[in-house]
Amino acid sequence: MDLIEVMRSQPANRFYKPDPVPQEVFYKAMDSARFGPQGGNRQPVRFLIVTDPDKRAQLAEWYMQPWSVYYEQASAAGEALEAESGDAKATKAVMSKASIVAANDFAENLASHPAIIVACAELEETHPTDTDLGRLSIVGGASVYPIVQNLCLALRNEGVATTLTTLLCLFEPQVKELLGIPEQYATAAHIVAGYPAKPFPTKLTRHPVEEIAFMDSFDNPLTA
Ligand SMILES: Cc1cc2nc3c(=O)[nH]c(=O)nc-3n(C[C@H](O)[C@H](O)[C@H](O)COP(=O)(O)O)c2cc1C
Repeated sequence: MDLIEVMRSQPANRFYKPDPVPQEVFYKAMDSARFGPQGGNRQPVRFLIVTDPDKRAQLAEWYMQPWSVYYEQASAAGEALEAESGDAKATKAVMSKASIVAANDFAENLASHPAIIVACAELEETHPTDTDLGRLSIVGGASVYPIVQNLCLALRNEGVATTLTTLLCLFEPQVKELLGIPEQYATAAHIVAGYPAKPFPTKLTRHPVEEIAFMDSFDNPLTA
């Protein structure tokens, strides 16, 4: 697969076929994902693949609680923006109406998606350098999410689609108990994985380069 093409078209996949993903496919993807970078090469990430129907059902039930609140707020915000501008595409730069509806379908069917991979991180083995700045620390996550994205890309190489989610992190104590995750691990993401029910998209909605990259000073956009 062409690396650039895949980077430009790796979506949060919302619709899945019911077919299970074979264990060897997960193994192959993990075998590439593990080469992602981490601070000090401390390797804090563990993946737990949940396919057991009862456990998926429980995760789906917990997920719906924050999702239904988010969905209500996102729908109301979208409608307000639309009414204000008279433009149905007003929310496109954030999450379009269609994306929110698809994400709701994804949430309502979460228990049926073939696998939920819990990305866990041993916090002692992350290397946050921004804990004394009087703001939310973000650097610890940098030892975790490159590998998570690697996993999503490696699964894509096997024809498997994914959706990175974080709402279930609100239920970390319950999730850890349900899945026997040791005390020292935090839950960093819950990645839904399965064969896509629709073809992968060719285009995603993102800010242009000029809005996200700069040269020498933040007021000097990077241009071609
Ligand atoms: C850090 C992070 C957390 C996310 N959490 C959720 C989530 O809890 N539920 C969900 O449906 N999607 C979640 N997403 C998916 C985003 O909503 C999605 O990537 C975004 O809307 C862009 O969609 P696209 O990649 O298909 O264009 C998350 C994505 C990221 C990167």
